[in-house]
Amino acid sequence: MNTDISSFNQWIEAWNHFYDKEKELVDLDPNAALVSSVSSDGKPNARVILIKDVSQEGFTFYTNYESQKGKELFHNSEGHLTWYSRAQGASIRVQGKVEKINSNLSDEYFSSRDRNAQISASISKQSYDVDSREALDKEFQEFADAHEGKEIKRPDHWGGIIIMPSRVEVWKSRDDYKTRLHDRIVFTQSNDAWIKTRLYP
Ligand SMILES: Cc1cc2nc3c(=O)[nH]c(=O)nc-3n(C[C@H](O)[C@H](O)[C@H](O)COP(=O)(O)O)c2cc1C
Repeated sequence: MNTDISSFNQWIEAWNHFYDKEKELVDLDPNAALVSSVSSDGKPNARVILIKDVSQEGFTFYTNYESQKGKELFHNSEGHLTWYSRAQGASIRVQGKVEKINSNLSDEYFSSRDRNAQISASISKQSYDVDSREALDKEFQEFADAHEGKEIKRPDHWGGIIIMPSRVEVWKSRDDYKTRLHDRIVFTQSNDAWIKTRLYP
């Protein structure tokens, strides 16, 4: 049965509808999405991340602020996220400003993580060259040994990034896939209001 995506009044209703269902349908990484950025010389780049929180404010994921994505997202404070559900034939595209989330929230999330993930986040100079796998493992082990029995604090270079939507597009395939007349509804922020429009597929 076709889902009438034009009946959603807000983008977050659409997100909750598809994401709640995705968690029932997909065991592994239903929260995986692409985050896109543009380098200072105009080259686009995209990579997979895991969405950890979604609210009216936006989509939050965690990463290294000094990674390629960190640098690119913050150089113009604009980011893009694309979530796709193969199981439901749906996609959600989000465009908006990016910000670091409040450091207390990053601390909270960091402390909830597995210790090995805390060590990785602490030692990884994400997106920079590393000499070898052995060098990486050695750095990990040295950090683990040096912090044996101690709490690992969140490093300043690691935390949450929120993409705060100014435009959200919801795409849904129709049952009659072959016509390619799929549904596209866009929510665009205009001052304090959100305008809903339909796009040609
Ligand atoms: C399923 C999956 C989930 C991932 N989740 C994250 C994540 O939440 N945060 C992150 O920094 N990298 C994550 N990665 C790794 C990124 O895709 C990427 O390799 C890394 O962040 C470096 O990207 P950059 O060099 O563009 O900054 C994930 C990769 C995959 C395939």
